[in-house]
Amino acid sequence: MIGIFDSGIGGLTTVKAITDRLPHADILYFGDTARTPYGSKSADTIRSYSVENGDFLIKKGAKIIIIACNTASSAATDLLRQRYDIPVFEVITPAVELAVKTTLNKKIGIIGTRATISSGIYEKNINFLDPEIKVLSNASPLLVPLIEEGFLDTPETKRILKKYLIPLKTRQIDTLILGCTHYPILKDLIAAKAGKRVKIIDSSTAIAQSVVNFIGSHENGDILTGTSGRRDFYVSDITPQFGNLAKNILKSTVNLTHREL
Ligand code: DGL
Repeated sequence: MIGIFDSGIGGLTTVKAITDRLPHADILYFGDTARTPYGSKSADTIRSYSVENGDFLIKKGAKIIIIACNTASSAATDLLRQRYDIPVFEVITPAVELAVKTTLNKKIGIIGTRATISSGIYEKNINFLDPEIKVLSNASPLLVPLIEEGFLDTPETKRILKKYLIPLKTRQIDTLILGCTHYPILKDLIAAKAGKRVKIIDSSTAIAQSVVNFIGSHENGDILTGTSGRRDFYVSDITPQFGNLAKNILKSTVNLTHREL
């Protein structure tokens, strides 16, 4: 069984990308809706929430963990890898590798939560692969609450998005990493505002592909993923918005179970 967690709804973009590619895998999802957003919290708090989430998934039988949250990936990957003896995937590396392969003018833009951007992890990992690449990042803290509230195609969201993208566009990025798993929900809008010349890198599809590659090359791939196509969704707070957005992302109705914190 693949255990996946996020601070809320965003990790469902990763669930969709994984289940499109591995339909028979068993999926256990946890969205920490009671404590979202993580992006404005301190690294210590994000780490302690991530440990609770990882422990929960493992207790329920996960054999692989995906940290489907850039914020938690930037703060807690090392800690979770030390703590568990099962594979732990994070969403940053696959997006970085794809962006480095994609850029032609060596100018990559990143939008993400405050915690992700201020961790500097994208710059560090991109420049480790190619020190000549210029990395331009902009924290976009209002996008997660707008998405969680279902403000997906409203004038307010468009205006805010434009404001976040202008500094990156004026510095002529040709590649933009959506450094938050919530943002693929606004992918069409972001692509339209970023302009035709900018290639969008979606961290949820990038991680899905790297998990598929890992499973394909692992002799016990089916044992790790399970094969019954079971889906279990847990949240720390059940809200009608979550149910509606989840249906929108996964294209099917989702039964939510409350996890007491
Ligand atoms: N989906 C999460 C991410 O990828 C963050 C949202 C939050 O701030 O909680 O960073």
